[in-house]
Amino acid sequence: MRFLAIETSCDETAAAVVEGDTAGVRVLSNVVVSQAALHARTAGVVPEVAARAHVEAIPFVIDDALQQAFGGPTSLLAELRGAGRQAAVGRLDAIAVTTEPGLRPTLVVGESAARALASAWGKRLIPVNHLAGHIAAAWLPRQEVGGRESEVGETWFVHHLPAIVLIVSGGHTQLWKLSDFRPPNSDLRLLGQTRDDASGEAFDKIARLLGLSYPGGAALSALAEQGEASAFDFPRPMLHSGDDDFSFSGLKTAVYYQLRGSRQWAVGSGPAYELMRRDVAASAQEAIVETLVVKTARAARREGAAEVILTGGVAANERLRQKLCAALGTRPLVVPAQPYCTDNAAMIGAAAVLGLRLPASAK
Ligand code: KG4
Ligand code: ZN
Repeated sequence: MRFLAIETSCDETAAAVVEGDTAGVRVLSNVVVSQAALHARTAGVVPEVAARAHVEAIPFVIDDALQQAFGGPTSLLAELRGAGRQAAVGRLDAIAVTTEPGLRPTLVVGESAARALASAWGKRLIPVNHLAGHIAAAWLPRQEVGGRESEVGETWFVHHLPAIVLIVSGGHTQLWKLSDFRPPNSDLRLLGQTRDDASGEAFDKIARLLGLSYPGGAALSALAEQGEASAFDFPRPMLHSGDDDFSFSGLKTAVYYQLRGSRQWAVGSGPAYELMRRDVAASAQEAIVETLVVKTARAARREGAAEVILTGGVAANERLRQKLCAALGTRPLVVPAQPYCTDNAAMIGAAAVLGLRLPASAK
């Protein structure tokens, strides 16, 4: 099976060609155009602005994905120009597209493109849940954490089940348990999720308080490296709530009041001010990371997990990867390679190939 996959649920226009069957998944191309610079101006995503940018980018992104996968004059644009309809289309079995969850105006752009191509080319259309995509990324190539060897097969990765999956992104923070997986059947259960802000959103909002531009997660993390993580005792929200849920909005408020009440902040410049910014960044990052790590490791122990999978844009956070790896002890930690952690279409194609679906109760 060979699928063209399309993803436009937020601010990345993405297309990929993925092939596979129950024996494995292989990425033939993975093209992502980020709108981050566009949304930096408004310090966040304005859905209609994002949708317009998707409309402009999507023909080129799909075209690049097809060209990288199949090469030659087989591209969508060449076809539209009447230069010949052939190989690329003939080599595709279906078109997979993210249909939920996400921003309605942006999802519609990907769905419309997918529906139009499926109808024009006579292909099956496969709707994919974005979070099933983040989970399916665990079947794509991985990155190494803490110097540990990944169990990398030719195209197929062994998973130790049951596995706990932590999805951390700008839009979501969820803990899942994957008990069984025999494509196309899986036993997947949502253990807990954030009750308010996602972890990436917390990084972004705190980064904004510190004057960093959107999306500020990576910049906050870089600033934190120069600061003292124990300088401020910020709250670890819901650390002892007795369930697997998270809450990050109170942390952002605590950081705001800490800043507002300080003398250095009122001055607004100079060495003392810079020192404080770094310490706030390090302490806030520590509060987010510790909450995620403690709750994930606890769930892994309780559920007898044989493996933990960390995925989503916030998996780029080095401190999170290292601390989670250490907290899990001998339990393997699997992290997809960075291009498959941040929003991308290869993970959507992988979910379609594997037939990975979320249980109806979790949607
Ligand atoms: O998965 P993703 O690309 O998009 C969504 O589905 O939201 O995740 C983006 C999020 C943003 O909130 C961004 O600030 C955060 O991932 N992020 C980071 C780091 N790199 C990206 N957060 C913390 N540390 C990082 N190094
Ligand atoms: Zn995402």
